[in-house]
Amino acid sequence: MYCLQLLFKASTGTLLLVLCLQLLTSKAQEDTRAIIMNVQVPQKARANDEVTLRLNLQTELHECLVCKSYLRSNVTIDGSFNYAYTSCLCEDDPKNLYWDFQPNKSMSIVAVVDIIRELNICPGDEAVIPIKANRYYYSTNLDVQ
Ligand SMILES: *[C@@H]1O[C@H](CO)[C@@H](O)[C@H](O)[C@H]1NC(C)=O
Ligand SMILES: *[C@@H]1O[C@H](CO)[C@@H](O)[C@H](O)[C@H]1NC(C)=O
Repeated sequence: MYCLQLLFKASTGTLLLVLCLQLLTSKAQEDTRAIIMNVQVPQKARANDEVTLRLNLQTELHECLVCKSYLRSNVTIDGSFNYAYTSCLCEDDPKNLYWDFQPNKSMSIVAVVDIIRELNICPGDEAVIPIKANRYYYSTNLDVQ
């Protein structure tokens, strides 16, 4: 921030600019993300068609995490929609989780990932819980006709 103010105040030339860009870049690189969520699900479906939601999970942390992943909706849905997966997520080892369900009306869906403390999920129980945030979510709408 201070760097940006300097940059605006004193147009002292290229050296300062380069210095500032280097500072900003190294700050950005430090921001490793504990959880990266990618959700794939259709935007539209016909009532009682089977729909699959795929959640892809990755971490940029060097340590492994125990993740509990589940879905929430504003309408009640039976079956595997309600299933919660507990898995060990490690660097360079993305996980894909799938939920199949048959929606019968338009719904909003939230995919939630909680980083939890549970034994016997990660090998040797070598896993961490980030202090900054331990709940991540992604929300989307499914239009059902
Ligand atoms: C929609 O699905 C829910 C849960 O499976 C069920 O309780 C409800 O009766 C269904 N509604 C219709 C109109 O089929
Ligand atoms: C649930 O959310 C969807 C999408 O926002 C909306 O179209 C639908 O009417 C909502 N259903 C209920 C029962 O609130």
